[in-house]
Amino acid sequence: PRNVARADGGALTVAGLDVRDLAAEYGTPVYVLDEDDLRSRCREFRAAFPDADVYYAGKAFLCRAVVRMIAEEGMFLDVCTGGELATALSAGMEPARIGFHGNNKSVAELTRAVDAGVGRIIVDSFAEIDRLTAIARERGVRPKVLIRVTVGVEAHTHEFIATAHEDQKFGFSLAGGAAAAAAFKILDEDVLELRGLHSHIGSQIFDASGFEVSARRVLGLQAQIRDARGVELPELDLGGGFGIAYTTQDDPAAPHDLAKRLRKIVDGECAAEKLAVPHLSIEPGRAIVGPAVFTLYEVGTVKDVDGLRTYVSVDGGMSDNIRTALYDASYSATVANRTSTAEPLLARVVGKHCESGDIVVKDEFLPADVQPGDLVAVPGTGAYCRSMASNYNHVPRPPVVAVRDGRARLIVRRETEEDLLALDVG
Ligand code: LLP
Repeated sequence: PRNVARADGGALTVAGLDVRDLAAEYGTPVYVLDEDDLRSRCREFRAAFPDADVYYAGKAFLCRAVVRMIAEEGMFLDVCTGGELATALSAGMEPARIGFHGNNKSVAELTRAVDAGVGRIIVDSFAEIDRLTAIARERGVRPKVLIRVTVGVEAHTHEFIATAHEDQKFGFSLAGGAAAAAAFKILDEDVLELRGLHSHIGSQIFDASGFEVSARRVLGLQAQIRDARGVELPELDLGGGFGIAYTTQDDPAAPHDLAKRLRKIVDGECAAEKLAVPHLSIEPGRAIVGPAVFTLYEVGTVKDVDGLRTYVSVDGGMSDNIRTALYDASYSATVANRTSTAEPLLARVVGKHCESGDIVVKDEFLPADVQPGDLVAVPGTGAYCRSMASNYNHVPRPPVVAVRDGRARLIVRRETEEDLLALDVG
């Protein structure tokens, strides 16, 4: 996070608070959210895309306090399940500023979204169009929809591969003609209001050329729809996926540079196709909340394994951060309660779960005198860590504490063993 500092020889501070005090008050592990950091990233995206709507992708991390923060920063919100929608609504998010995603929205979820008056539903299949059309007819309303288009660009961190069609569950294939057919169906039935096209090509993307190819292709479809039906769709959503730096190896583009490149492609393509430039929106999740959070753990066992490596066990693990085990993700770690002049030691930070893949940080140099009771901070854990947390091994999920201007506030409390047992009704 941006507001982290370290006093000479001392402990890490965040927003002016000493991590030792945070650990003492809230226990460990704990996710610490630097609220000003999150807010500043919302502002950066809004400034970089001044005439676009910026939807925060709530799947990265969602709770009521964060809904209020992003709403205060003028953001819109993307949800993808009834649960995320419920959280958004209960935090007072204006329904018109919510977009609803998902490849398998239930009739109940769709009905709830329609009744709440969400601003847009991103339709993902012909079956969903039929379900939503039936709900709209029954309710006598005209929900606004976007079509999720599978543009055949699959982007991963440093590269992207363009394929003729994507073998995956999301959206309507562009190459196969399903996307155009979906647009014609919605326009011809004239029950739903087709606002535009949507494309999302992946996550943790560094190479902006994937977005460029995708924007070009989706605008090609826009022109095809205009030619076939005489309708120019007013909106275009280019999705999320903007990469962040997890380690010093990563070098993500600044929102401003991304925006410039995207704008240029969109404007150029629209000019070439003689299309009016649609109103843009984007959906960053990770890039808003990822860097704003670090997880604070306490060290338990430190084990040297046959001189191969030192295993530093912390009091959490794959239940609060599955990303290392699941995606081979890279994180860094630092001893947070003190500085040390001891020589650096190649360490692996591991959790407390009964599984050897329970790794938090694969390789990190920690001071050789790292010991039980030390605090370890792992930065960049705001996105897809708490939101993908589990109760594996019946470990209660950690709390989230927001810090700002020297004050800390609990925004998600720690789960307790009672919480876990409350569900066990057998
Ligand atoms: N919009 C749509 C339609 C999405 O499916 C996603 C992410 C986003 C926006 C936000 O993407 P972001 O800006 O956060 O990259 N669990 C994985 C990431 C899954 C992303 C799923 N969709 C991980 O931990 O890396």
